[in-house]
Amino acid sequence: MEIVPLETAEQVAVLAADVLETAVRSRGDAVLGLATGSTPLPTYRELVRRHEAGSGPSYDGVRCFTLDEYIGLPAGHPESYRATIARELTDALGIPAERVHGPDPAPDGLPTAGERYEAALERAGGVDVQVLGIGSDGHLAFNEPGSSLGSRTRIKTLTEETRRDNARFFGSVEDVPRHVLTQGLGTILRARHLLLLVTGPGKAAALSAAVEGPLTASCPASVLQLHPHVTVLADASATGALERRAHYREVYDAKPAWQGF
Ligand code: GLP
Repeated sequence: MEIVPLETAEQVAVLAADVLETAVRSRGDAVLGLATGSTPLPTYRELVRRHEAGSGPSYDGVRCFTLDEYIGLPAGHPESYRATIARELTDALGIPAERVHGPDPAPDGLPTAGERYEAALERAGGVDVQVLGIGSDGHLAFNEPGSSLGSRTRIKTLTEETRRDNARFFGSVEDVPRHVLTQGLGTILRARHLLLLVTGPGKAAALSAAVEGPLTASCPASVLQLHPHVTVLADASATGALERRAHYREVYDAKPAWQGF
């Protein structure tokens, strides 16, 4: 695992955009795994800025898969993750809706939605780079504490803490759906490169538990310790609780220029 302690959220966004652009440049039909939430937004804005400035890669063949989706919102609801990712990123990059996939929350198909999403990921050949955020309770995607470390896409029930965290998008906690479809931790582990973005002091404890604590379903993000290619980009406030912070920075400062991420 490569942990990169940076100073600002802007630096996180610039490096994360570099990683995603490198993947797209090296493979025109790259499969990008996209997270929602606030953390990746500066990265997405940076990608859009570069695209509009004409310095970004071509997204003509790129395919995208989101991590998760709320159940119970009316189709097209602005806070659905499908609408959010189109608004924040893929529309501006010119990636058409048919190349942006998400778990299907339509009520009739719920019993098979998980396995259909797994099949779609497999048909696409798997995810090249998976953008991830982390919940304040250590969740990844919507895998709350207690989630099986080998889980696949399925329905989950949100914790009260996550619903409170996400109430800012809905107006009140009562309006945040209780149920979601989410890629499992085992699904996420199959992506070839995991790119975890962490910003703000509210994530410091979760980050330290995930990368320096034990591997445990009580901290779902600790499953990252099992993956062979993880890059963690974090700002100064998010790295405050890391015991080995100085070492991670020393490693990054000595990183050979040819190595990339
Ligand atoms: C949300 C999402 C996750 C996200 C996390 C952190 O509920 N389902 O994919 O990474 O919680 O969100 P934020 O970046 O807004 O703190």
